[in-house]
Amino acid sequence: MDRIRVAILGATGLVGQVFVDILSNHPWFEIVELMASKESAGKKYETVAKWALNKPIPEIVRDITVKETNPKELRSDVDLVFSALPSGIAKELEPKFAEKFKVISKASAYRMDNLVPLLIPEVNPEHLELIEIQQRKNKWDGFLITDPNCTTCIFMLSLKPIYDKFGVEAVIATSMQAISGAGYEGLYAMQIHDNIIPFIKGEEEKLKNETLKILGRIEDGKIIKPNIKISATCTRVPVIHGHTLSVSLKLRDKATVDEIKKTLASFKGLPQELNLPSAPKYPVIVRDEINRPQPRLDRNTYNGMAVTVGRIREDEVLDIKYIVTGHNLVRGAAGASILDAELLYKKGYL
Ligand SMILES: NC(=O)c1ccc[n+]([C@@H]2O[C@H](COP(=O)([O-])OP(=O)(O)OC[C@H]3O[C@@H](n4cnc5c(N)ncnc54)[C@H](OP(=O)(O)O)[C@@H]3O)[C@@H](O)[C@H]2O)c1
Repeated sequence: MDRIRVAILGATGLVGQVFVDILSNHPWFEIVELMASKESAGKKYETVAKWALNKPIPEIVRDITVKETNPKELRSDVDLVFSALPSGIAKELEPKFAEKFKVISKASAYRMDNLVPLLIPEVNPEHLELIEIQQRKNKWDGFLITDPNCTTCIFMLSLKPIYDKFGVEAVIATSMQAISGAGYEGLYAMQIHDNIIPFIKGEEEKLKNETLKILGRIEDGKIIKPNIKISATCTRVPVIHGHTLSVSLKLRDKATVDEIKKTLASFKGLPQELNLPSAPKYPVIVRDEINRPQPRLDRNTYNGMAVTVGRIREDEVLDIKYIVTGHNLVRGAAGASILDAELLYKKGYL
């Protein structure tokens, strides 16, 4: 097969670096353009990437000259654009890219737009049907799809199998989010060391609203959201990578702890069925040990593409509770978008 030519926006940032890392070794995709702010433009990637991964910058991108983020600067033969732009910049620029190019965005700017799929390939692949409506209404040759906030990505993989089998009426979720979720310049050591930050701007609304959109069913081109009560608390903790949530659920139908374990452990979606290159064999791993999951031990399961659930037990107030952890920069960010791209390719959108 011909390789699919991809560009990365926000390529020098934390999420951009994970895109660069995964895509440098990808069997289908080839990085042909890297874009960032005007300050980085015109310089070699290795001199402007604030490289923070614990492996070297891939050889094939070191000498690429970073361009300013502008669709007019992009090679016209680019097949797909991954965006890891800050949300404010994404709001202005992503529609301009989508006029001509196919864009998958990690930014929050268009996640809640009615015409934009908010995709998790194992959870709501049927939302891709919005692409055609979006292209028609906006008169775009390209399209824009988004994937969820990092915490929502991790949470949803644990919720969806239970939601499908037993129904979910209410959720109480508390996140303990890693420092790298705040981007390269997110937090000073003095703020987070020996500490917990009890508030992350906008995060609780995202966890609630995105969950309802993702679980929505499409009727006449519109997403009809389910009726689930969600109470979210999002905190930042001194962990480098890996977001963890403590979750309690009220179920529609009664379920035992064993039934929940089996449901989660056997869950598979379209990426597994299609054998996509980045798809983990199982997207949810269930651990029985009393002291798991832990972000440091479990975030890299299946190359960071699976989430790990443990401490599944009865909840004295609702019905069931558990802890889930996953890699915010991989399953919650770049890896999620790359899995979207693989699905888009297999489904004939690229
Ligand atoms: N970190 C996570 O776990 C995570 C997870 C899910 C989603 N996200 C979302 O992904 C996006 C990127 O996050 P991040 O953590 O990678 O942030 P980051 O480390 O701060 O990187 C920001 C990137 O955006 C570029 N940029 C900044 N201002 C720009 C401008 N005016 N024009 C064009 N490019 C500009 C930067 O380029 P320069 O180097 O040239 O300044 C850099 O490449 C955000 O929308 C974030 O909310 C992050």
